[in-house]
Amino acid sequence: MIAAHRPAAALRRALLGIPALLVLAAPAVAATPESTPATGPSWLAKLGRDFDKSSLGRVGALGPNEQDPELQAPAPQGGRWLRQGFDLRGADLFRFTCRSCHGAGGRGLPPEVLPLVDRVRATSAELQKKQESTAAADRAVTAEQLLRHRIEAGGPSMPGFDFFSPDEEDVLIAYLERLAGIPDPKHVDRSLKVPVDRVGELIVKGTCQTCHDSSRVPGAKPAPWPIPTLDSLPSSHSARAFVPASRHRGQAGLHGRGPEVSYLRDQELEAAYFYLTAYPAH
Ligand code: HEC
Ligand code: HEC
Repeated sequence: MIAAHRPAAALRRALLGIPALLVLAAPAVAATPESTPATGPSWLAKLGRDFDKSSLGRVGALGPNEQDPELQAPAPQGGRWLRQGFDLRGADLFRFTCRSCHGAGGRGLPPEVLPLVDRVRATSAELQKKQESTAAADRAVTAEQLLRHRIEAGGPSMPGFDFFSPDEEDVLIAYLERLAGIPDPKHVDRSLKVPVDRVGELIVKGTCQTCHDSSRVPGAKPAPWPIPTLDSLPSSHSARAFVPASRHRGQAGLHGRGPEVSYLRDQELEAAYFYLTAYPAH
């Protein structure tokens, strides 16, 4: 499980022109699960939901930007992140895997996307106590188990995130506690050193796969306009062209139908490209 992304190393070098020595000198990145390729249809396709009637994947830019930049790891400088990995904090995990549906403040877009903060507030014994005096601590513990289950298993119209490492889930929950403003947080947000392919995997599985199929689904009826499959992107787009294309700005000044993902940094979208190249979707 902890094997450190070997198939990726040679590619990373080839793609990005990093001297071999520097790659070999990279520190082992601890306890990050091996990445796996994106597979299967998009989440919208799995739900059978009409793109035009759904806001899934398009809520990320809505609402005030309540995300405190101090809670995010600083933008990676120069090329060092390519070999040493990203510093990832709970706020970053939230941007990569929750924000596109739940928005910056976690309020969602009811009735389709429910706000997530209430479920997090339920994990606070302090807040529970204010309502009723008995067994607040027990109920808070149960609520946290439910929250973890919700994250790992998803819901009727929410995908599950069973590929988070225990550390990733803990820092994400630490951030959610902060977002929900609970007075007695039980988890500590800290920075995790995470390799570039993992960052790409989190973004692709946590954001892009809501709309993009991994590969052409045999027998699927064609969409009214094409959403390119993830497996086609490394050959249809160079690394350089991929970043602006991922912002769905469309052509000739017309905005595309996909989200602008303005809250994802260029380096993070490059990481998504790197991941799609190193772990071809199928
Ligand atoms: C593809 C869109 C999507 C993504 C990505 C997503 N969610 Fe959700 N989430 C939903 C929808 C839709 C609902 C409400 C319907 C349902 O229960 O499935 C929901 C509901 C929830 C709820 C329960 C709210 C309630 O009151 O019952 C929690 C908690 C939650 N999400 C947390 C998260 C977290 C944490 C992440 C990131 C790891 C995340 N979600 C990522 C779509 C998403
Ligand atoms: C809400 C749905 C949705 C989500 C989420 C989404 N896309 Fe898209 N994407 C589209 C649609 C629709 C198109 C077709 C072109 C258009 O209308 O913008 C598209 C097209 C693209 C293209 C080709 C654009 C071009 O001009 O060549 C790229 C590259 C792309 N998406 C990358 C991404 C990446 C990377 C992510 C995740 C960070 C992502 N998309 C998330 C809907 C989405």
